[in-house]
Amino acid sequence: MALLEVDGLSAFYGHLRALSDISLTVEAGELVSIIGANGAGKTTCLRALSGLIATTGTIRFDGQNLAGLSPQDIVGLGVVHCPEGRKLFPDMTVGENLSLGAFLRSDRAAIRDDLERVNELFPILHERREQKAGTLSGGEQQMLAIGRALMCRPRILLLDEPSFGIAPIIVDRIFEVIQELNAGGLTTLLVEQNVSLALDVCSRAYVLESGRVVLAGSSADIAADKAVRETYLGM
Ligand SMILES: Nc1ncnc2c1ncn2[C@@H]1O[C@H](COP(=O)(O)OP(=O)(O)O)[C@@H](O)[C@H]1O
Ligand SMILES: [Mg+2]
Repeated sequence: MALLEVDGLSAFYGHLRALSDISLTVEAGELVSIIGANGAGKTTCLRALSGLIATTGTIRFDGQNLAGLSPQDIVGLGVVHCPEGRKLFPDMTVGENLSLGAFLRSDRAAIRDDLERVNELFPILHERREQKAGTLSGGEQQMLAIGRALMCRPRILLLDEPSFGIAPIIVDRIFEVIQELNAGGLTTLLVEQNVSLALDVCSRAYVLESGRVVLAGSSADIAADKAVRETYLGM
C-alpha cells in the first residue's frame, strides 16, 4: 500500500469540471511530481488532497480515508501543503510565520529542533527573523513558505510551484533543499509548470491536461515522450 493513494478523484468549480477521475499514488519516501500547463488542474489537485475543496472519489493517506476530514485534521495527519503564491502573513515577522507553522503542535522541544533545522536549511530566514514577511524577496518568501510547512512536521509535503516568479539562482537553492529533504526521507508531491526542473528531481511524474492524467511514468520515460518534449520542453 502506498502512503498516498488517490483513486477516481473529481472536483468541480460550479459547472466547470476541474479534475476528472484522477488516480495517483505516492510511496513513502518518494518525490513525485504533477506537471502540466497553466490551468491543467495541478493546484486544484493539491487543494483537494488538503481538504480545501469538495471532491468525489477516494483519497487515502497511510490507509486512512480523508473523506469528511477538515483541513486542520488533514494537516494533523501530516499532509502539509505549501501553497501556490506562498500565502504568508505579510505583516507578521519571519519568526512569527514560522511559529504559525507549528500551531497544531505542543511538542516544544521538537518544535525548537525543527526551527533549528529550518534555519540551517535557509540561514537567511534566521538573519531576517525580525523582518516582516511581506518585505522579503520572492525567493526568500518561498523559502519561508517551505520553512513554515516544515514546521508542521510533514509526513508528506505538497509543494505547489516553488519555482514560480523566482530568480534562477534561488530556484537552484530551493530545489537543492527539496532534494536534500527527500534524501532525508521526506515524501514529496511536487507541482510544477517548469517541467524540466521537476523531471530533474523527481523519480516519477504524472502529466495533467484539462483535469485528467494523460501520462504517468518514470521521469526518464516522461522526458523521452515526444509529446511532452514538444509541448513542455520545446525540443
Ligand atoms: N476558485 C476557482 N473558481 C473557478 N474556477 C477555478 C478556480 N480555481 C481554478 N479554477 C479553474 O480550474 C482549472 C484548473 O485550475 P488550477 O488547478 O489552478 O490549474 P493549475 O494549477 O494547473 O494552473 C482552470 O480552468 C481554472 O481556471
Ligand atoms: Mg497552479
